[in-house]
Amino acid sequence: MADARPFHWEYHPEPPRPEAFRIEGGRPLRGTVHVSGAKNAALKLLAAATLTGERCRFENMPEIEDVRVMAETLTDLGVVVDHPGDGVYEVASGDVDWLFVPLEAAAKMRASFILLGPLLSRFGRVIISNPGGDRIGRRPVNLHVDAMRALGAEIQYRNGYYFAQAPGRLRGGEVTFPQVTVMGTENAMLAATLAEGHTVIRPAAQEPEIDDLIAFLRKMGAEVERTAPDTIEVHGRKRLRGADHAAMPDRIETGTFLVAGAVTGGRLTLENAACEQVGALVEIFGRVGVPVACGTTSIELDATGLRTGDLRACDIETAPYPGLATDIQPPTCVLLTQASGTSRVHEAIFEDRIEWLSELRKLGARIDIEDAHHASIHGPARLHGAEASIGDLRAGASLILAALAADGASLIHGAHHVHRGYENIDRKFQQLGASITRSAEPA
Ligand code: UD1
Repeated sequence: MADARPFHWEYHPEPPRPEAFRIEGGRPLRGTVHVSGAKNAALKLLAAATLTGERCRFENMPEIEDVRVMAETLTDLGVVVDHPGDGVYEVASGDVDWLFVPLEAAAKMRASFILLGPLLSRFGRVIISNPGGDRIGRRPVNLHVDAMRALGAEIQYRNGYYFAQAPGRLRGGEVTFPQVTVMGTENAMLAATLAEGHTVIRPAAQEPEIDDLIAFLRKMGAEVERTAPDTIEVHGRKRLRGADHAAMPDRIETGTFLVAGAVTGGRLTLENAACEQVGALVEIFGRVGVPVACGTTSIELDATGLRTGDLRACDIETAPYPGLATDIQPPTCVLLTQASGTSRVHEAIFEDRIEWLSELRKLGARIDIEDAHHASIHGPARLHGAEASIGDLRAGASLILAALAADGASLIHGAHHVHRGYENIDRKFQQLGASITRSAEPA
């Protein structure tokens, strides 16, 4: 069925209260920072909890806007979500009153679409909004929908909503993706845990957050296994039980702080962080010439001995894991502004994740934006304070990094975008000696 123009075309979600960061740059960051739980694991863990009527408990959950939005979305469905302490969520999905994920949830956060698989599989039906446009390009969900159909679901698209049903129960099957998709893999896997029979998902995305989700599902009694690096197999069960789990550390936050230490000429210890999860970035640090020491659950970075011109340019390309994460591309670009020579950037996953570089230029970076996927960064550039605007989460954190490295004061608008995915980012930077404050934009 052709996708019709949604009837809620005029719908405008309430915008978050606009905030700005004021940053006085040029101070080397020093000290220890504790990396929070992973956003991209936490959201899926909350969704997975709807696969059972029993209580699930999560720890090390990041205190961020996206997690709050997911908790609220579940609450609106009739799920009981408690937040008894910092980083702790408890979810009990015994009663689900509404098998309906409204546009309001999808417009706030595209990841609400991860509820398709578990709700459809457990309750046999769900109506879920097509996620609205993100500011990082076209974000289709066709692969999720195709995966559900491969498991026997009947799905129609009407007026901006997917109406999905599984007559009887979903049936295990072959889910073959034409390209690697992280949430598509997760949605298929979540759905398959309660389907009848055996499911093979290939190529399955290899992001560590997926393996964290697998670990939780197994505690729930699901029979899920990564049987090859790009293959996940599931034997469906009739029901799953409640379980406890601690979300893995956020590797994107890890990468963001590593770059912060490097570009400010600082010395940092990152706790609750592992090099193996940011292997592609650590390899780039090696090529560029930033010393990093890997512990078992910590990473140390010492850039205090580096002088202007010491770092070497290097070409980067984003790719599915274990390649360089597209979410790490913006921070890495900030690092490359300080490297001698020309670095070529190829953003291979999303359209429009290059666009933000025009804001980075306002702080003195010398960058040629070639097209929606390519740019060249010429360094080393002497960054200076400026006024710039954040358009999305990852670009936002990266503008902070540039402002921390720059001489003078910066005013960065759109700070609220950053709180979608980074816990207390301003406080964490303050603890490392940065001069950064957040305030409401004047009305
Ligand atoms: C997840 C992450 C996001 C990260 C991205 C890539 C979460 C909540 N988000 O997003 O932070 O940047 O992985 O690492 O975990 N695609 C389609 N049709 C689909 C689905 C995807 O064409 O149905 C395309 C996308 O437009 C993109 C590519 O596939 O070009 C990969 O996207 P995908 O891996 O699905 O990203 P997400 O899971 O949405």
